[in-house]
Amino acid sequence: MCTPEHFGVLYEINSWMHTEVRVDLDLARSQWEGLRAGLAASGAAIELLDPVEGLPDLVFTANAGIVNGMQYVPARFRHPERQREVPYDVAWFDARGYTVDELPGVASHEGAGDALPFAGTLLSGYRSRSDVVTHGALSTLTRAPVRSVELVEPRLYHLDLTFCPLDERRAIIAPLGWDRYGCKVVEALVPEPLVLDDDAAFAFCANSVVVGSTVHMPSCPPAVGRRLEAWGFDVVVHDVGEFLKAGGACRCLTLALDVELHRT
Ligand code: ARG
Repeated sequence: MCTPEHFGVLYEINSWMHTEVRVDLDLARSQWEGLRAGLAASGAAIELLDPVEGLPDLVFTANAGIVNGMQYVPARFRHPERQREVPYDVAWFDARGYTVDELPGVASHEGAGDALPFAGTLLSGYRSRSDVVTHGALSTLTRAPVRSVELVEPRLYHLDLTFCPLDERRAIIAPLGWDRYGCKVVEALVPEPLVLDDDAAFAFCANSVVVGSTVHMPSCPPAVGRRLEAWGFDVVVHDVGEFLKAGGACRCLTLALDVELHRT
């Protein structure tokens, strides 16, 4: 995670961001602290990236890249505003002994925001922020089988706004974000999906972090909570309203480091 000292909505690169909307930085700080404390209470060990002035979205560490054991594949951001984050992300992983493997070419890929491991595959979103041509290279670099899903709803512009792996069989899904083929890919992959309705999808319910059997969510309608609890999960809801102004929520604010992708 990255502390939100320099967080803000300083430009508009997704349909949620409006520069005329004020961010309350004190509130953002306490919301971020609440999330960090909640994740830690569930047993997560949190490592920190130093914030950088002028990089308001650095706080959304999910987009820093793909982690696979001690391998790190840096993101290549779609927008110049976020491209300046990359050297800071790379320096962090480099200093900790990770092997840094760059994607070839110039096409975009926005890291774990658009690529989530599920049941032995790396489910990968494309179109709005990541280019599908990177998926082959990603599979070659990580040796993980990649399944591609086209993101068709501009408000759900990263895969992690539409998909949250819960365990080997279950995931929270927002099919509203995908084309018909993408829906079929996920249907074939996830035996027990928890399907969000449109309101829950746009409230970023899928942008949740699972630590052990606890699901940390930006919001949770009663029906979703009941289903998660019936499956044996505990639900913790975090108000991350200041970050929603930038189009991000709980999961965007984190990057999982304990990821070991399956190999083909
Ligand atoms: N303002 C950021 C952007 O548009 C939000 C990133 C959200 N991250 C995510 N993993 N969905 O890039």
